[in-house]
Amino acid sequence: MGEGLTINAKKILVAVCGGIAAYKVAELVRLLRKQTMQVRVVMTQSACEFITPLTFQALSGHPVQTRLLDEQQENSMGHINLARWADVIIVAPATANMMAKLSYGLADDLISTLCLAANCPIYVAPAMNQSMWQKAVTQENLARLEQHGMVIIPPEAGEQACGEIGIGRMAEPVVILQQIQQGFLKSPERVIENVPLDEKHLTTGLLKGVKVLISAGPTREPLDPVRFLTNRSSGKMGYALAEAALQAGAIVTLVSGPVQLKAPAAVLLIEVETAEQMYQAVLSAAPQQAIYIGAAAVADYTPVQVEGQKIKTEGGENTLFLQKTKDILASVAALKQRPFVVGFAAETDQLEVYAKGKLLRKGIDLIAANWVGQKQGGFDKDENALHVFWHEGEKKLAMTDKKTLAHQLIELIMERMNEKNTAKNSG
Ligand code: PMT
Repeated sequence: MGEGLTINAKKILVAVCGGIAAYKVAELVRLLRKQTMQVRVVMTQSACEFITPLTFQALSGHPVQTRLLDEQQENSMGHINLARWADVIIVAPATANMMAKLSYGLADDLISTLCLAANCPIYVAPAMNQSMWQKAVTQENLARLEQHGMVIIPPEAGEQACGEIGIGRMAEPVVILQQIQQGFLKSPERVIENVPLDEKHLTTGLLKGVKVLISAGPTREPLDPVRFLTNRSSGKMGYALAEAALQAGAIVTLVSGPVQLKAPAAVLLIEVETAEQMYQAVLSAAPQQAIYIGAAAVADYTPVQVEGQKIKTEGGENTLFLQKTKDILASVAALKQRPFVVGFAAETDQLEVYAKGKLLRKGIDLIAANWVGQKQGGFDKDENALHVFWHEGEKKLAMTDKKTLAHQLIELIMERMNEKNTAKNSG
């Protein structure tokens, strides 16, 4: 998982301490903003010796707080509100001094007080001289931080700013970003709970508190810096399912390929481009879910090689070498701790034969087959019809708008899942 994967609109509080690695945190803030996360920055006084608050203000788009009690900042968010606001706090670079304070629950400056007041996950990215890192007392503090539930993003080995060589360089910003993304995938509910459901999202209660993971839209498989292979999926079917699941009270994570649609604020949206990125995002989140619905039109093949430069046309004919992508549905179905797995089948002929084949071959629980490439329904249309198969039966859902159809499919999924669970419990 890398920069290509986007988790939107989450609130990250970046707490910068005084170390030379503070300059790297500017890049971290830039990356977080690029991921459309909301970022606020707080700094210790000594951090301001290494990098100015103005730099972080420009990068985050918000004033930077540097003191616990500061009349001049009385219009800014108070430290308790700031601790409540954050979905995640990242302390970077975490100095040996700050680690010691956090490990003992001291609260004598803005950052240590915020961390003590916070209920959200706290990530700590240490950076210090290699001897300081190796000292038994630092390692004891580290162990204590972990015992108290903080997530350590370990420092790396290499040449240090002081000229010494050893462990102590702060992890690269992209590594810190990936850890934060992974954390969101593993526990989306905290993030989603922060978004109040509006009237449109009145719950039917059918899926109250149930975790549902949905994939939607197409994938893009790059050929060169400007060209890619894709398909006609608009994401309408998958987004309608996300909305329907939300209305039924579910905690929804939506993994989406590039589409022109706006996701409901109350879903955890993870934006991806390629089939590989979709695979990584879905497989990271799937073990914590009750239901997975694969409505995305995932590329079955991807170019063996992505050219670094635009492919030239002078040579006349060209041959493309493609390789199979990983089968996301089958991989989720093969997990030890697996959700109820629902696939889609997009068919232009022999719908029933191919759909039933996919149901068996991919080892899933239910498959919703639709005709594609026809006048009505399928790719990029507002309406659709589904022929749904499971191991013991089938049901036809007639042509209607995708939103209505999504509600019908969610109800059917719940029925089948309850039936499967009842059978499992009584058998
Ligand atoms: O997005 P819309 O414009 O609203 O259109 C909706 C839709 C037609 C895209 C949707 O209803 C649909 O049929 N989605 C699945 C499209 C598809 O890729 O079907 P398939 O028969 O090729 O794949 C079968 C299943 O395997 C699908 O659930 C697919 O997500 C999954 N798959 C495929 C390849 C792969 N590498 N991994 C997968 O998980």
